[in-house]
Amino acid sequence: MAETDQAVVEAENPLLEGLRLRRRPDPCALVIFGASGDLTTRKLFPAIYSLAVRRLLPERFAIVGIARTEESDEDFRQRMREAVEEHSRDELREDVWQELAAGMRYVTSEFDDPGGWERLTRALNALDAERGTNGNRVYYLAVPPGAIANLADELGKRRETEGWTRLVVEKPFGRDRASATDLNERIHCHFSEREIFRIDHYLGKETVQNMLALRFANGIFEPIWNRQFVDHVQITVAESIGIEDRAEFYEQAGAIRDIFQNHLLQLLALTAMEPPIDFTADSVRNEKVKVLRSMQTPGPSTVVRGQYGRGFVEGEEVAGYREEPRVAPDSMTETFVAAELYVDNWRWADTPFYVRVGKRLPRRETTIAIHFKRAPHPPFEELAAEGLRPNVLIVQVQPDEGVSLAIGAKVPGQGMTIRTVHMDFLYGGAFRTGLPEAYERLILDTLLGDATLFTRADEVDEQWALVDAIVAAWQRDRPGFPNYDAGTWGPPSAEELLARAGRAWRRN
Ligand SMILES: NC(=O)c1ccc[n+]([C@@H]2O[C@H](COP(=O)([O-])OP(=O)(O)OC[C@H]3O[C@@H](n4cnc5c(N)ncnc54)[C@H](OP(=O)(O)O)[C@@H]3O)[C@@H](O)[C@H]2O)c1
Repeated sequence: MAETDQAVVEAENPLLEGLRLRRRPDPCALVIFGASGDLTTRKLFPAIYSLAVRRLLPERFAIVGIARTEESDEDFRQRMREAVEEHSRDELREDVWQELAAGMRYVTSEFDDPGGWERLTRALNALDAERGTNGNRVYYLAVPPGAIANLADELGKRRETEGWTRLVVEKPFGRDRASATDLNERIHCHFSEREIFRIDHYLGKETVQNMLALRFANGIFEPIWNRQFVDHVQITVAESIGIEDRAEFYEQAGAIRDIFQNHLLQLLALTAMEPPIDFTADSVRNEKVKVLRSMQTPGPSTVVRGQYGRGFVEGEEVAGYREEPRVAPDSMTETFVAAELYVDNWRWADTPFYVRVGKRLPRRETTIAIHFKRAPHPPFEELAAEGLRPNVLIVQVQPDEGVSLAIGAKVPGQGMTIRTVHMDFLYGGAFRTGLPEAYERLILDTLLGDATLFTRADEVDEQWALVDAIVAAWQRDRPGFPNYDAGTWGPPSAEELLARAGRAWRRN
């Protein structure tokens, strides 16, 4: 790209100013296993293209897609071009696309077909020679979870001596602690921990990373970020959609494995962690894992599960979970979980973290809300009755990404009437640019070899230990499902969880 083009791209996107300082990734080939799948089409390629537009990919770069679907190189390029046109946040630019497409190859193969592995090796060797990718490889496993261990074995056996290798593994990582341990052991036979990039795409979201900026780049929050000033924390991961066409997956996973085990616990760890000594992968992850290790196992009275019945979401009548296609009519899979969790350490002892995740809730929303304690002595007596709310710092992860602080302010006019108002920072307004997709950041980081935003083996292990304990307690009783209407905030017991301590879930 000519220097002037570069300037145009940067002027359009002021966020690039920071990125410009980052080093360009080494030359390499990205191999996507599962290249005909939904993830590759909707997320990975659009993200790769957005990186290409911003000149963030390696100068010498190639992509090999591999899957069972019979396709030529040219078909693959055409299909991915359409995927970019449909799903990318950037307009397709012919020059950028042609440069990317020139390095794209496709291998049709079953993963257990030795002939396919040979074709893959030949394609990669040819790309090394043509495009100078130097034997460096990123293997992205965008495949069903059951295929991961065998693929890691094959890749390990075929490891080349020249160049570095990285392995990207999608979620879910195991379905309980034992299977995750097994999977880790299989992968560790061939790959060191620093070569493994376990995706939790929430960590690629700008607003999630902004939690770290907010806490550690500002002097004013850390001194009050503890049990002395914080009354409690609420974390909500709410979806208004149902299970769409994913019954096979969801019936096995439920809300606890789909969202709670990974995204939700990661949000909690980022909220509760101590300041890391620096922002290297290990320092950040050391602090997160300490939080996960300090978490008490919640008792049955502090975990609520639910399943939606029929109802109305955003004005539309929707079916109950058990009526969804391919869901068992007596399914006991939970579509909602709420819990009162405690991080047993000096900073957070006795401070509840109320968390909830669910489907078919009234709206899509992911928020972390820090509820501070009331002012110790409000001199405005008559106001207490009007319900002036304590300060709340709300990190809005999605949608409408931003941060908002609820404060008491005087209503203009006579007298001393005080009302809660919000001081807002909205990403869109402050930076005047679209936010990068999580996968852009995560793919770029794998190319750079920076694992800070990826989940380490010990984190996965701690997350499953907590989930296993919750699930084991569930075996002992059978709640009457469905127990909440679609379009409501979960079963009444989720409200009671907070009400018994005189608290309530945030409504807005
Ligand atoms: N889709 C998402 O938004 C999303 C989000 C988060 C995580 N994930 C995770 O990402 C992974 C991929 O998800 P997906 O939705 O893309 O799945 P998908 O649409 O079912 O795609 C699976 C891919 O794997 C290929 N494949 C499966 N078995 C194979 C075999 N034996 N030999 C060769 N190719 C084989 C398929 O090839 P053919 O179709 O050609 O047979 C297809 O390309 C899963 O682990 C999922 O949990 C997906």
